[in-house]
Amino acid sequence: MELLQTTIEKFKNTIRLTDEEKLSATHEALSKIDINSKIFIDTYPRAASINNIYPGTKNGEDWDDWTVGFWTGMLWLSYELTRKPQYRKVAEFQMRAYKYRIENKIHVNHHDLGFLFSLSAVAQHTVTGSEVAKEVGIKAADHLIGRFKEKGEFIQAWGDLNDPNAYRLIIDCNMNVPLLFWATEVTGNPIYREIATKHINTAAKVVLREDSSTHHTYYFDPATGNPLKGVTAQGFSDDSAWARGQAWGVYGFPLAYSYTKDPKFITLYKKVTNYFLNKLPQDNVCYWDLVFSDGSNQERDTSAAAIAVCGILEMDQYLEDSDPDKAIYMNAAHAIMKSLIEKYTTKDLDHSNGLLTQAVYSKPHNSGINECNIWGDYYFLEALVRINKKNWKKYW
Ligand code: GLY
Repeated sequence: MELLQTTIEKFKNTIRLTDEEKLSATHEALSKIDINSKIFIDTYPRAASINNIYPGTKNGEDWDDWTVGFWTGMLWLSYELTRKPQYRKVAEFQMRAYKYRIENKIHVNHHDLGFLFSLSAVAQHTVTGSEVAKEVGIKAADHLIGRFKEKGEFIQAWGDLNDPNAYRLIIDCNMNVPLLFWATEVTGNPIYREIATKHINTAAKVVLREDSSTHHTYYFDPATGNPLKGVTAQGFSDDSAWARGQAWGVYGFPLAYSYTKDPKFITLYKKVTNYFLNKLPQDNVCYWDLVFSDGSNQERDTSAAAIAVCGILEMDQYLEDSDPDKAIYMNAAHAIMKSLIEKYTTKDLDHSNGLLTQAVYSKPHNSGINECNIWGDYYFLEALVRINKKNWKKYW
C-alpha cells in the first residue's frame, strides 16, 4: 500500500517538536520515573494500571509475565538521559532476578524472551559492558531458540511445544528476534542469527495481507509446515488490523533490517507503515484496532502509537535522503508524539504513576482497557530518548 494523498497532505507541513517541547516532555516523564524508581526496586509495575495506578509484581510471579523488562528498560533509558546513579543501581539490582529467572526457567516457556531480556540484559551490557548481563542475555537466547520449529521455520509463540493447536507464530515476535541477532554478534555463534533470519523471513511471508494490513497470529500445519491461516488473539476480528500488531510490524521490520541489511525489510516497513499512517484518526493517535476511527466510540491504544514512532525513528537512519516518503514519515512521528504529549500523558491527572494514559492491553480479554500500560510508557520514553539523543544505541 502507498501513502494516500490525504496522508501526505496531512503530514507534509507538520511542524516538528521544538527543543522546548522535547525537554519539557522528557522532564515530565522523568519526574514520574524518579518517584517510581524509589518504589519499584524488587517489584515492577504490572502490565496495566488500575485507574491509572500500576500495582507491583515480582519478576516471573505471573505465568503470563512478559512485561517486567519494560520497567528495567525505562531505568536504563533514564540513566542514559541523566546519568543519575539511582536508576543504574536499581536496574543492576534487578539483574539478579532476571538471572535467577532464566537459570531456573521460571515462566519463560513463551517467545517473549526478547521483551524481557533485551531491555534488561542487553541494555545493561550495552550501557555498562557487564559480562554478567551478557551471559544472562545469551542464556535467554539459548532458551528462545528451543522454540524454533523446523517445519514451517518459525518460533512458536505460546503454548506447549508438542501441542499441535499451538503451532503458530505471532507478529509480536518481530521484537523478540533481535535478541537472537544480538546473541550472534556477542558470541560469534551463527545459530542464533540463522534462526532469527528464518523466523523473520517466514513472518514476512505470512503476516501481511494483500492490502498491507497484518494478521496478529498465523497457524501452520504441524505435519507439513505449510501455512494455514491468520487468526487474531487481541484484535477485533480475524480480518481486521490490531493496531499494536501493526505497530510491532512498523518497529520489527526496521530492526530486522538493522541486523540483516536485507532491502526486503525496507519494503515491508513501508507497506505496514503506510497502512498504519493511512488509518490514523484526526489527532494521529490510533484506536486499538485500525478498523476503528473517529466516531466509533472505541478506545485508543496510545502504546501502539508510541511503538510506531520508535519504528519510524529507527528506520529513518536507513532511508535515503532522496526517498520522497522519508520526510513524511519523520513528520508523522513528530505529529504522533506531539499529540501524545499534549493529550495523552498523565500530567493532568491527580494521581497516576504511569506516563501515557488511554492504552489497551486486550479488549477481547477485557483486560487493561483505557489504562496506562508499561510498554506504552517504555516506548514513549524510548521515543523521547531517540528524539533527544541522535546517536543512542538501541537495546534491541
Ligand atoms: N505482546 C503482547 C501484546 O502486545 O499485548
